[in-house]
Amino acid sequence: MKVLVTGARGMVARAVADYCRSIGDEVVALERAELDISNRDSGRDAVASNSPDAIINCAAFTDVDGAESNEKAAYAANSDGPQNLAAAAKEFGAKFITISTDYVFDGKFDGFYTEGDIPAPLGVYAKSKYAGELRTAEENESAVIVRSGWIYGHGGTNFLSVIPELLRTGKHITAISDSFGTPTFARDLARRLRELASTNVAGVVHVTNAGEGSTYYGVACEMADLLGIDRSHITPISDADLKRPAPRPNSSKLATKRLAELSFDELPDWRDALRRFVKA
Ligand SMILES: NC(=O)c1ccc[n+]([C@@H]2O[C@H](COP(=O)([O-])OP(=O)(O)OC[C@H]3O[C@@H](n4cnc5c(N)ncnc54)[C@H](OP(=O)(O)O)[C@@H]3O)[C@@H](O)[C@H]2O)c1
Repeated sequence: MKVLVTGARGMVARAVADYCRSIGDEVVALERAELDISNRDSGRDAVASNSPDAIINCAAFTDVDGAESNEKAAYAANSDGPQNLAAAAKEFGAKFITISTDYVFDGKFDGFYTEGDIPAPLGVYAKSKYAGELRTAEENESAVIVRSGWIYGHGGTNFLSVIPELLRTGKHITAISDSFGTPTFARDLARRLRELASTNVAGVVHVTNAGEGSTYYGVACEMADLLGIDRSHITPISDADLKRPAPRPNSSKLATKRLAELSFDELPDWRDALRRFVKA
């Protein structure tokens, strides 16, 4: 299969490109400088000239706090971008897959959100991603909108991705112990995205590693255990202590209900995924 990957310098994009190459796909991975997805003509040109079988959109404005003061750029990448690619995919007969977020939910529900639950995004990033979902679905009825959350992986610069390096170098860290989510290893997500590219599944699906989910503190403690580092290097804090600009859902655990109903296997348990991440 020929796969076009956008946002190629990003964490998930790199995992997707690596995974697709490992199974023999031809991969065209375009960085923002090569394809700015917010530009409709550039998106169309990239799809027209590369003729991919599938487009996996990993490009996004991902600075959750920065989006609060940069609404225009957030909507350009997260809402216009997926819509532009969805239209080009439809025009040139490619399967379109775009990634959305657990942050589309307000987090007031204590259980696991399913695809049937109604989003109520809180901040600008979350609202722009939800707008991208709606505009993708409106533009292209075969598109797949993959909601995931708490993604970490090699090359990632977000908190979960850098914990092992911080701990290995003797740092003491703080980690939120009162926000809940379902951690997802970028490599496992990449496999699922590629699997979806060769199915006729369409619409919203949730993809995370299996298990009961955790807090950032819980994930950090598991990583410390895997590294043989004492948990005393990690101090639990409250989300409220950080006083960040963007509101975030308190609990955004996702249930992968739809893919289970479609007889997909579960992705490995999140602890197994952490082990593979930390040991790699
Ligand atoms: N990380 C998480 O925990 C998480 C959770 C839920 C959902 N997601 C979603 O997963 C997807 C991948 O996220 P990630 O963690 O891999 O993010 P990432 O590492 O920040 O990568 C995003 C990439 O998109 C690029 N980009 C931004 N605007 C663009 C544009 N207009 N055109 C083309 N490229 C653009 C960025 O380029 P620059 O570096 O040049 O800005 C960056 O390389 C995103 O849709 C994100 O919303 C992530």
